[in-house]
Amino acid sequence: MSEFPIHPVPASFTDAHINAERYAEMYRRSVDDPEGFWSDMAREFLSWEQPWETVVDYDFHKGEAHWFRGGKLNVSYNCIDRHLPLRGSRTALIWEGDDPATDSRHISYAELHEQVCRLANVLKARGVNKGDRVCIYMPMIPEAAYAMLACARIGAIHSVVFGGFSPTAISDRIQDADCQTVITADEGLRGGKTVALKSNVDTALESCPGVHSCIVVRRTGADIGWQEGRDLWYHEATAAAAAQCPPEPMDAEDPLFILYTSGSTGKPKGVLHTTGGYLLQAAMTFKYTFDYREDEVFWCTADVGWVTGHTYIVYGPLANGAATLMFEGVPSYPDAGRWWEIVDKHQVNTFYTAPTAIRSLHAHGDEPVKRSSRASLRLLGSVGEPINPEAWEWYYRTVGDSRCPIVDTWWQTETGAQMITPLPGATALKPGAASMPFFGVQPALLNEDGSEIEGPGSGYLVIKASWPSQIRTIFGDHQRLVDTYFSHYPGYYFTGDGASRDKDGYYWITGRVDDVLNVSGHRMGTAEVESALVLHEDIAEAAVVGFPHDIKGQGIYCFVTPMDNVEASAKLEAELIELCVQEIGAIAKPDVIQWAPGLPKTRSGKIMRRILRKIAENEVDNLGDTSTLADPAVVDHLVANRAGPA
Ligand code: WTA
Repeated sequence: MSEFPIHPVPASFTDAHINAERYAEMYRRSVDDPEGFWSDMAREFLSWEQPWETVVDYDFHKGEAHWFRGGKLNVSYNCIDRHLPLRGSRTALIWEGDDPATDSRHISYAELHEQVCRLANVLKARGVNKGDRVCIYMPMIPEAAYAMLACARIGAIHSVVFGGFSPTAISDRIQDADCQTVITADEGLRGGKTVALKSNVDTALESCPGVHSCIVVRRTGADIGWQEGRDLWYHEATAAAAAQCPPEPMDAEDPLFILYTSGSTGKPKGVLHTTGGYLLQAAMTFKYTFDYREDEVFWCTADVGWVTGHTYIVYGPLANGAATLMFEGVPSYPDAGRWWEIVDKHQVNTFYTAPTAIRSLHAHGDEPVKRSSRASLRLLGSVGEPINPEAWEWYYRTVGDSRCPIVDTWWQTETGAQMITPLPGATALKPGAASMPFFGVQPALLNEDGSEIEGPGSGYLVIKASWPSQIRTIFGDHQRLVDTYFSHYPGYYFTGDGASRDKDGYYWITGRVDDVLNVSGHRMGTAEVESALVLHEDIAEAAVVGFPHDIKGQGIYCFVTPMDNVEASAKLEAELIELCVQEIGAIAKPDVIQWAPGLPKTRSGKIMRRILRKIAENEVDNLGDTSTLADPAVVDHLVANRAGPA
């Protein structure tokens, strides 16, 4: 673990919502008396139309969890309407466009209300009912948030598909969730370049005959394809719709959204989150982890297409009545100082980003940061992958001027909200450690055989009891949920991550222990990349592993076996790369392709990925036990022809 110095709680945080004593006391109660604790929190943080009958019942063997059964509430009401009497004219959303010369926009809670109501009425008029699924494929524009909240308002289930995904990926997700409505834009704009969103949707919809409505925001005004009857302009439809729409009372366990994420095997799975528990943990973590104070400006740089964008651009901040910033562009456009200019321009107080972005900005040196004042910043956050202590220290010293604590928050699409994180007024910071469990979260470390590790040690990170924003099911395939998370170690939720715990009880997440890659904070299954590669008619077999990458965290290393009579060539390599981009999206572009006349297999034909990982990591002197290999010569060939960086 890191030898970097510990940073005690700074004096500026002594009056934080949660100090060390309060953390200890509240954490204890959350575990000893979950019913009492969560009842109090649910009343404090949310407005209910009808109180619940039971706080929680769950069964980890069946992968079932119910929170606040019998309670009724509406997420859009909680994020908008209830703030109107006191905060209607305050800013809900600050939008900063890709081009710094475009005017930014401040959207008040009252305007947010009107926009969401109008779109909700459009959806209703198109026949979207409670429980129907709506696909949202949007750039980072306010309409993306309106779309999510409009669905929540009428009880439709949104499925946001990241704007960087390909037509194939969109169509897979639309079909899996049986979406009949899509909300998109003509084009997106990122770093001065356009993204052909509507055209991608058109291609995707060729294989989705069930989609009856496609609502299109005009962002760039580009020429786009149009299917009469199916396609409608967002601005026309919302202008014609009424500005009031009553929120649909939802059961606490009614679905709120589906979000696809990658696992070790097969196609991405539709993680389903529900209403009451999700919103409660989103709201609570937002207030406590970020020590949110009224009138502060919060900026999470994630895309709304990922869970971080759902929980910390939209639901968490808005449930607290905060001002949340949404940035359309990229950190390097027009240059590497853009983010810090935005911090100054909008007087951002809390800034939440991913280690991969910190590392790539670090590579540009201090000057682009030092051009800005950043005096408004009070707190920094990190999410998405382990942050190496060097990047942590640079973030702390250069971005935060050694003044702002960093909360390194560990969580997952499946956990819905933060799970292990420092609280800035309570936790002394150790660079690289996600630190301590949030209220109600009971982590444990297991040995290979499933026994719990006591005290300091390393093992598989599991969670011992349900938490409010827990994944409820995988859409359409509950058995897959049980198999993936609840059967490795019966009675525990299996995270797929490894971690260690030090003598002070701090957790240090070491990364995935399964075949899931984390490339620039984007989660991806090796199996997805492999299936894309073998679609090529010249390819017989492929095995994909991750390798350490200075900026991206992990890079994608592909071992590819061509068909017998096929010559490996630069042209074939380029086609394979293109295939991954086409099938998945640009985030899945392989970094290294190594031709492999054969793959290392056991005598029963199983690929020994452990060995491939070592070759990719250039740890060829340390391949481990190779005695079970069917043909050891295969490995010698791969080592001799290693293609990756030294
Ligand atoms: C990794 C993103 C170390 C982890 C919210 C997890 C982290 C996966 C951290 C989930 C962190 C996330 N430290 N690793 N602070 N945060 N991870 O579903 O491997 O996109 O399992 O959710 O990211 O990625 P996902």
